[in-house]
Amino acid sequence: MERTLSIIKPDGVKKNFIGEIIKRFESNNLRPVAMKMMHMSKREAEGFYAVHSERPFFKDLTDFMSSGPCLVMVLEGDNAIKANRDLMGATNPADAAPGTIRADFADSIDNNIAHGSDAPDTAAFEIGYFFNGLELCDRV
Ligand code: CMP
Repeated sequence: MERTLSIIKPDGVKKNFIGEIIKRFESNNLRPVAMKMMHMSKREAEGFYAVHSERPFFKDLTDFMSSGPCLVMVLEGDNAIKANRDLMGATNPADAAPGTIRADFADSIDNNIAHGSDAPDTAAFEIGYFFNGLELCDRV
């Protein structure tokens, strides 16, 4: 059993894809154990994506992530990190396999609908960035 952080980004919320995306998670044995709707400040987005602070896309990325509300979730399941990334598809929707979330819903690499942790260490950081232990609800 593993946990991963998932974010439905401002474009996904704005386009009303929350239900469709969560349906895909639940249909594929990824269960939400925590979720919150939040509108990140620029500083909060910069902290979340600090690992990318030297990348040329950092300003646009953090402007976008602080441009509107996101749905931030913790998903639990077998191999949850990889399972979530497989469901999302490639970072650039132009490269994403048909039937994946980004291929079906995203417009561009900058507006790519969803984020998912890419490894156990980043999942631990990202979950802790948004949630405290009391907010993680064990599923039975
Ligand atoms: P995400 O999975 O949220 O992680 C970082 C985000 O930066 C990524 O999705 C993209 O939306 C955005 N991004 C923009 N350009 C690039 C790039 N060249 N490589 C990786 N991520 C990029």
